[in-house]
Amino acid sequence: MDLSVIRKSQLIPFRGVPLPNYFLKNMEKVGEFEADKTDVLIATYPKAGTTWMQEIVDCVLHGGDVRQCEQSPIHYRSPFLEASYPGIRTGLELLAEIPSPKPIKTHLPFQLIPTSFLQKQCKIIYCARNAKDNVVSSFHFDRMSKLKPDPGPWEEFLQKFLTGNVMYGLWHDHVKGWWEQRGNFPILYMFYEDMKEVKTGVGGHNVSDPLTHTHCRSTLPGQAGSGLDIPHAPSSTISGRTYSHCIRKLWNTPSLPNWPVLLLTKSKSASLFHCPVSQQDPRREIKRVAEFLGKELGSKELDTIVAHTSFNAMKLNPMTNHSNVPLDVLDQRISSFMRKGIVGDWKTHFTVAQNQMFEEDYCRRMVGSTLRFRTELSPGDNCLQ
Ligand code: A3P
Repeated sequence: MDLSVIRKSQLIPFRGVPLPNYFLKNMEKVGEFEADKTDVLIATYPKAGTTWMQEIVDCVLHGGDVRQCEQSPIHYRSPFLEASYPGIRTGLELLAEIPSPKPIKTHLPFQLIPTSFLQKQCKIIYCARNAKDNVVSSFHFDRMSKLKPDPGPWEEFLQKFLTGNVMYGLWHDHVKGWWEQRGNFPILYMFYEDMKEVKTGVGGHNVSDPLTHTHCRSTLPGQAGSGLDIPHAPSSTISGRTYSHCIRKLWNTPSLPNWPVLLLTKSKSASLFHCPVSQQDPRREIKRVAEFLGKELGSKELDTIVAHTSFNAMKLNPMTNHSNVPLDVLDQRISSFMRKGIVGDWKTHFTVAQNQMFEEDYCRRMVGSTLRFRTELSPGDNCLQ
């Protein structure tokens, strides 16, 4: 690595998407990248939990043998497809060195990913994070990254985020673009908030619908194995229907997995639904990843992956915490790469006025989409480990 050539990048539109100027001359080659059909693409908007998902996928691909994932830093085990910075080996160069199956990281919007991933029906995991926490995390990362454009003060960065004048453009377009393709290709669409949530015993699940501000809450004793994604179902469409019926209608996807059929009843409060939900926790979400990748993991292996990929473990692990990246590239004295890892940190950054402006813009941009995010978890649900 030649540190003397490290400079902050400028954003230049590539087919309408702002990318670092350094990436541009490499993008043609990226488009021609020949994925192996066993490769797993991990796609995210930056700072949505990419590293977390990369580590989980790598552990799953190694059948839960986490020692195999301790051999080298995550950016070597799961290269960043389109990365091309001066003085640093490109993502394509790193990819050429490791055998398949391999987890490949990208932040590209759906329309820019190499067609080989789609032609070969490669498995793709998209991990999304609510916009408010996503912009906060991006702000702190850009403060310490010597490769990304200067974020300026928080207020200014928030404006840039809302106008899409940031790397990879508008968050809203990115998350929606991938969401709309999930029925057309083997795409597992995951949510950072679902991975953060921990439930024990009888639990509640608060859901805020950003468009209607409807508050839904699902409760009932955890019934192992009946895992459902209730937070993404708008309350108005599920009343009195079987869950699978509603989900199928809602997602309009013929190839949904075998969701258990459950009768939902509506309480007097008009927004209270009762249905069996399994424990919502990283274990369940990691299991979903493993099942999607066709890997059968035993209970012990799953537990090992849960522990290995917890925030605290990854913060301490030099193979995931980027401590081996020189300070000239990522100055972690300014902000830690493994910063807070929680849902709802936006509340310590947004003013009331900023929140209102953000939500108005959000509703406008997300109108018509069935995509739902949670910007907070119920007290006790935020896994701080
Ligand atoms: P914060 O800045 O909010 O702490 P990415 O990998 O896409 O760059 O995302 C980084 C964000 O994911 C950071 O968020 C980081 O702390 C969080 N993160 C990384 N590993 C995590 C884990 N194991 N559990 C929870 N959050 C994690």
